[in-house]
Amino acid sequence: MNQTEFSRRRKQLMRMMGSGSIAILPTSQTCRRNGDVDHVFHPDSNFYYLSGFPEAHAIAVLIPERKHGEYILFCEEKDEQKELWEGRRAGQQGAIEQYGADDSFPIDDVDDILPRMLEQAERVFYVMGAHPHLDSKLSQWINRIRSQSRNGKQGPLEIIALDHYLHDLRLYKSRSEIKFMRQAARISCAAHVQAMRLCKPGLYEYQLQAAFTHACSMQGARQQAYPTIAGGGENGCILHYTDNNDVLNEGDLVLMDAGCEVDCYASDITRCWPVNGRFSEPQRQLYELVLQAQLAAIEQVKPGNHWNDPHEAAVKVLTRGLIKLGLLKGTPARLIKSEAYKKFYMHRTGHWLGMDVHDVGDYQIDGAWRVLEAGMVLTVEPGLYIPRPCKGVARKWQGIGIRIEDDVLVTKTGHDVLSSAAPKTVDEIEALMAR
Ligand code: GLY
Ligand code: MN
Ligand code: MN
Repeated sequence: MNQTEFSRRRKQLMRMMGSGSIAILPTSQTCRRNGDVDHVFHPDSNFYYLSGFPEAHAIAVLIPERKHGEYILFCEEKDEQKELWEGRRAGQQGAIEQYGADDSFPIDDVDDILPRMLEQAERVFYVMGAHPHLDSKLSQWINRIRSQSRNGKQGPLEIIALDHYLHDLRLYKSRSEIKFMRQAARISCAAHVQAMRLCKPGLYEYQLQAAFTHACSMQGARQQAYPTIAGGGENGCILHYTDNNDVLNEGDLVLMDAGCEVDCYASDITRCWPVNGRFSEPQRQLYELVLQAQLAAIEQVKPGNHWNDPHEAAVKVLTRGLIKLGLLKGTPARLIKSEAYKKFYMHRTGHWLGMDVHDVGDYQIDGAWRVLEAGMVLTVEPGLYIPRPCKGVARKWQGIGIRIEDDVLVTKTGHDVLSSAAPKTVDEIEALMAR
């Protein structure tokens, strides 16, 4: 992402805030793994959306119409010794020259400098509850200013939920955001293909995961957008399975839900395939039903339709199909009303996708489902999950978990499936695995 885009976003937000306002956005905190080792750092999405700044220990501040510059970045100081041990830092000069800050201060000085900026503001825009360490500091600063009101210091009168403003901006993807999301999806599709090629009975689920991440890294994507789900057989029925420690067995399906991230933009793709390369008859019947449901749901992704239309389409196809296969008994209308399908399909058909895999943005406005508009990106991911044992269900269906998930952009005229390069018909998958 180039600096112009970050600058455009900051300006857009500052226009919404108006003068007399201050916005405060910290990045994520580092998180201790054990001993002297931290978990891999990932910047806070709201912070990164406005700054593009990749380092830990930083706070971005926006003050519309401030004379000495509207965008202030607090970050680590240059320090030769620390950089020798921990890696390079931009420092104050880098914050200004490389990251477009108007002004920059050492993060260690934030307790002195930020309260003075707060004194001048009438409104604070802040995401409450996401960064507890700063929540308490902020209320201390504000209380201190208020206690000095006899000295003529008034301080901010209002604290406004910044999430509401930012999340709506983040929901509509710009051209360059779509470019990154397309790239993330393209890389993940190629990695799914690679995993299908390598798959065989006797391989461990974590080895399939390694094949996926290796393929992503080799194409330039260093991080995954979420922990990979690689579940063979009935492990495919565990919705957020991440143990990935079982062996893949002859005769089972494997469900792989995996997606890399490119410049902090996520992909989220699920494919299922037979471990030995050939679907059994019951596996094929269930798989084709899920695929029909997914295609029907994708058809509903177009401007003017509402958020729930794809889900309703998927539920209709799945319920009818389950009746046909003898897995449900009754009429479609009744079974949909009583939500009988939830025995085998217990999650919803998708979510917003963007910087976060479950991205921000409201799904309803004033109690009504949100209308889809060009520039929104969502996943479409129906599934069927029949664990072993499963009461009242013929044995041949048991131990089969299937989900098919694609990343779909709403366009002016309909939709564009960003992840279409990963094969998903029975014939395509069997042909690929036979090679
Ligand atoms: N990978 C999580 C999901 O599909 O929502
Ligand atoms: Mn997924
Ligand atoms: Mn998903």
